[in-house]
Amino acid sequence: MSDDRVTPVLETRGCTVSYDLTHEALHPVDLSFEQGGTTALIGPSGCGKSTFLRCLNLMNREIPRCRVGGDILYHGENVNSTDVDTFELRKSIGMVFQQPTPFRKSIRENVLFAPKRHGVTDKAVLDELLETSLRRAAIWDEVKDKLSRSALALSGGQQQRLCIARTLAMRPDVVLLDEPCSALDPISTFSVEETIRDMAADGICVVIVTHNMEQAARVSDRTAFFYMGQMVECGPTERLFASPADSRLEDYLTGRFG
Ligand SMILES: Nc1ncnc2c1ncn2[C@@H]1O[C@H](COP(=O)(O)OP(=O)(O)OP(=O)(O)O)[C@@H](O)[C@H]1O
Ligand SMILES: [Mg+2]
Repeated sequence: MSDDRVTPVLETRGCTVSYDLTHEALHPVDLSFEQGGTTALIGPSGCGKSTFLRCLNLMNREIPRCRVGGDILYHGENVNSTDVDTFELRKSIGMVFQQPTPFRKSIRENVLFAPKRHGVTDKAVLDELLETSLRRAAIWDEVKDKLSRSALALSGGQQQRLCIARTLAMRPDVVLLDEPCSALDPISTFSVEETIRDMAADGICVVIVTHNMEQAARVSDRTAFFYMGQMVECGPTERLFASPADSRLEDYLTGRFG
């Protein structure tokens, strides 16, 4: 059996987080993430979803006094050690936040910012990357005639898709999304969800935090439920929603809290 097991793209073993050096905001979490799989992280506000998501690309390091314990394995290598170059790691593990975060630059420069910083200079390569990334984020048709215009002139939904294109321009193999649709209208949400399904079909490993159970059901094949800093239950999304094992998950799904 073990010979057939594929090494997960990402895996956490005993991953913990504390923000104040004493109290644990996240109790040990063991989870693994496969290539081409989409995992939804759900649970009531304050349960630790974003805290856990930020562990996966070492984003908690940007928060003063925040400590992350345990192992975070990326292709089998523990990256939760001080000598890891986060700039390099985040090339492969991209992140999209709740509020769109476009740079005060043109649409083109937003998408090409990171590839240029990482040394891509060939104009043909950059042009191809620009179009492919915007197409994959389902926004090419809307912006192709105004690539030099400011990204800030786009609507919120367009800005979010631009941010996804910016992430895809680095050709990541993991994309982390923290409530990417919570500020979007239903049509933009539909586009983003379609992009998420396309990313997974392309083999990207997707992890998405969402408060929307229908969204979790539409985009994910697996769901993990967090509650008060613990990862309580994880399993195939359909099974989890149809027959939750833990009573706290059942209460959450039936709207008794959260
Ligand atoms: N930067 C921080 N400094 C101190 N405590 C924090 C910080 N970020 C989060 N926390 C605490 O960690 C716990 C988990 O917060 P987190 O933001 O991960 O929850 P969440 O599940 O993402 O909630 P929401 O659904 O509201 O986004 C909370 O008690 C929160 O107050
Ligand atoms: Mg959050």
